[in-house]
Amino acid sequence: MTDKVVLAYSGGLDTSVAIRWLHEKYNLDVIAVTIDVGNEKDFSAVKQKALKVGAIKALVIDGQELLVKYFIFPALQANALYEGQYPLATALTRPLMAKLLVDTAAAEGAKIIAHGCTGKGNDQVRFEVGINSLAPEIKILAPAREWGMNREETIKYAQKYNIPVPVTKKSPYSIDESLWGRAIECGALEDPWVEPPADVYTWTKSPAEAPDEPQYVEIGFEKGVPVTVDGRKMGGIDLIKKMNDIAGRHGIGRIDHIENRVVGIKSREIYEAPAAVVLIQAHQALEAMTMSKDQLRFKQKVAVECADLIYNGLWFSQLNRDLSAYILSSQRYVTGTVRVKLFKGTSTVVGRKSPWSLYNLSLATYDKGDKFNQKAAEGFIHIWGLSVKTQAQVQLLADKEGPLSIMGPEEAKEK
Ligand code: ARG
Repeated sequence: MTDKVVLAYSGGLDTSVAIRWLHEKYNLDVIAVTIDVGNEKDFSAVKQKALKVGAIKALVIDGQELLVKYFIFPALQANALYEGQYPLATALTRPLMAKLLVDTAAAEGAKIIAHGCTGKGNDQVRFEVGINSLAPEIKILAPAREWGMNREETIKYAQKYNIPVPVTKKSPYSIDESLWGRAIECGALEDPWVEPPADVYTWTKSPAEAPDEPQYVEIGFEKGVPVTVDGRKMGGIDLIKKMNDIAGRHGIGRIDHIENRVVGIKSREIYEAPAAVVLIQAHQALEAMTMSKDQLRFKQKVAVECADLIYNGLWFSQLNRDLSAYILSSQRYVTGTVRVKLFKGTSTVVGRKSPWSLYNLSLATYDKGDKFNQKAAEGFIHIWGLSVKTQAQVQLLADKEGPLSIMGPEEAKEK
């Protein structure tokens, strides 16, 4: 009996060729699995193509709900941005895909899973670490890493086996999409000095062509999760799609990032992530109002750890579970509404309110109603600065070059 392999199938050239190649090279029956993570695609056409190319079965799984609930919203609550820029649209989908591939393999009695990633990227790492964590007995195949064909050779292979190759001059870009954003690589973008050509962008208007009137949007959060737009309750998928649409129309969410891949390569990545950019910004504004200075400081460090482990393919680590528990706890009072102004490529937070707000007008005001005891500041400053003052008398003022010289007294400089 022929063994079965579950293939993560995108419908593109590489994974289509992989269906045939897995059969030729390893005599495997291919079950193609396509996971909908909110990338606008004709999934029935993708399914038909898999079958036409030779898959014995083709499944389309709607992963959007799971993606939002278990991956995107927790990442938003963490304010996870890899290297301070990338909202992780691709990286967040891979552990979910690993889980769904493993489940499908179990249901279909397959002992092998294959993916179409090359050997140069992060996604191979995310898929394989995920699969190995969830089902160590599964064998993994990576045809595109193994076959050693360049694009031209892949096309020849496709033609030989009657695999449809896009006839129109294909976009020179490699694109990956999910609800949380769109990643674009290759073509002219490989020169980091070259400004991204206009045709790179499909989710966002050029800021120059965005509406001349600003638009205000009110985003309501409950415990760090966005639940309303302009007062209307919305499910997560719809809310994200709506924010992608509104913010994209105003040219918001374009990111141009020289990024450090797990495998040691620096790569130039273009992202479009209108919803992610605005929602993270609004979420941070609400946290600023409802969390203490120390909580905010500590949480920023956790955000870096979260973003790194998501990017680095370590979703199923216990560290992620530990940090998630902290993040969840931190969100208990992050409830309220943020008003954002969208205008020609920029989103600006212009208002925020919360039943848990720590902003206290009678402490902050310079007008009447001021309850702050200004006299107490004197004693506070005396003690607050005591150690600096003491040290300065002995050391700083002894420096012959004066207190602005950073190297300290002459004796210390000599050697
Ligand atoms: N550099 C991003 C990441 O590693 C996006 C990768 C896009 N993937 C792709 N197959 N084109 O998360």
